[in-house]
Amino acid sequence: MNPNLNIIENSILVIFGVSGDLSRRKILPAIYHLIKDNMLPEKMTIIGTSRKDISLDELMKEVELCVLEDSKVCDQKVLLKFKNMLSIIKFDPTNMNHYLSLKERFKKIEDQNKECFNRLYYLSVPTSSVGPIIKKLGLSGLNKGCSHGLGKSRLLIEKPFGNDLDSAKHLISEISKFFKEDQIFRIDHYLAKETAQNIFAFRKHNPVFWKLWDKNSISSIEVKALEKIGIENRVDFYEHMGALKDLVQNHLIQLLSLITMEIKPNNSTQTSDIHKAKLKLLKQIMPLNRQTFKEVRLGQYKNYKKEVSNPNSDIETYVKLKLEINNRRWLGTPIYLETGKALDRKSTEIVINFKTKNIQQTNSLTFRIQPNEGIDIKLIVKEPGLTDKYKEAFMDFSYQKTFNQTTHPDAYERVLVDALKGDQTLFATSAEVLASWEILEPLLKYWKKHPKILKIYQEGSNPSNI
Ligand code: BG6
Repeated sequence: MNPNLNIIENSILVIFGVSGDLSRRKILPAIYHLIKDNMLPEKMTIIGTSRKDISLDELMKEVELCVLEDSKVCDQKVLLKFKNMLSIIKFDPTNMNHYLSLKERFKKIEDQNKECFNRLYYLSVPTSSVGPIIKKLGLSGLNKGCSHGLGKSRLLIEKPFGNDLDSAKHLISEISKFFKEDQIFRIDHYLAKETAQNIFAFRKHNPVFWKLWDKNSISSIEVKALEKIGIENRVDFYEHMGALKDLVQNHLIQLLSLITMEIKPNNSTQTSDIHKAKLKLLKQIMPLNRQTFKEVRLGQYKNYKKEVSNPNSDIETYVKLKLEINNRRWLGTPIYLETGKALDRKSTEIVINFKTKNIQQTNSLTFRIQPNEGIDIKLIVKEPGLTDKYKEAFMDFSYQKTFNQTTHPDAYERVLVDALKGDQTLFATSAEVLASWEILEPLLKYWKKHPKILKIYQEGSNPSNI
């Protein structure tokens, strides 16, 4: 085991919905890479639950394919080690007896090893199953540590955390009957992306930007997550979500908070202080109102209605909106959030545009979250020679050039390691989730009474034409 991670205690990881799409595409390949990099605790047991009959060999074959697609190499020794760690059980999440047998299984593992294991429950299941599973985990006593009163039980939950403010409040209150806040790890995998993690360090340790980080020097901020892919068969999910709930409510607002929250050079890096500062900022983002509704741009890609077999669907696959932050640092600086599917590119970035005077060219700082991860600064320079023309030039930090790294650990590797360690820094708290919904709630209510105005766009469109 990696000596830096010696705080990860021996653990049992239960993946609910192990045969589902997210598990096969993200969670299991992330575990493969963690085994390969020797990042897991010495004694680790993984139990996958599935409603369907699926054999370990079948599942491992799929993991192998995902890993191959990802990194073009598949280490057979690692796969074997993984296979020895993993078992699959057929599990009906509505049947209490299945939770009790799981508890028995834990006891056997702990008795055999003569020690207590932490438990981590990863709920990779449809939103409607989250509440009921948590309730049964609680009622069967699986929310506690092992029988000697030692060990931790933790929950890893995927977004969406509710579908609007009320449902989020309801879900939070239901979960809190059985799990305390320090046991709950709400995943926002964008926070675990390499460049997103760099925002905090970059702002804290580069004094060159300290005095420029406000409305006096910054003319606007843009946070964009543009995708080439469409909804990829997630028909039910997307018809209940749309771009606003799928990406803006969580990933984009979280990224925005990292950019605009108070970070001072001598700030504490304690998890609770970071969450406090982030929450303070989230509460200062002004909820959308009748004035700002008008500036919301919505689009739907041309084949969407056919894909979801709903000729009347008013679900947006593209959204761009403007927000403002009501505090001394930011009031008056427009902030644009934009996301969409079936566009001409895959690109997630945060652009900070600086104010310039009497010049056409622009000066900006961009955090490239993906692809080609890095940070660049666009400067205005004079063209060489006997001319007084100006040009834009780039100073570019790229992980690839600086660290000779073409790939980074996937965000899900970081998510798993942090949850195993019990480090909640990169996870969203319940208060943050509610504060995010509060920003969007007036718009969601407005949409209930007024039809959405959607621009239909061709797949592969440039977002600036929507
Ligand atoms: C998920 C959304 O949270 O993020 C998806 O539900 C989206 O709709 C995905 O495609 C994008 O993640 P990434 O890491 O590929 O940018």
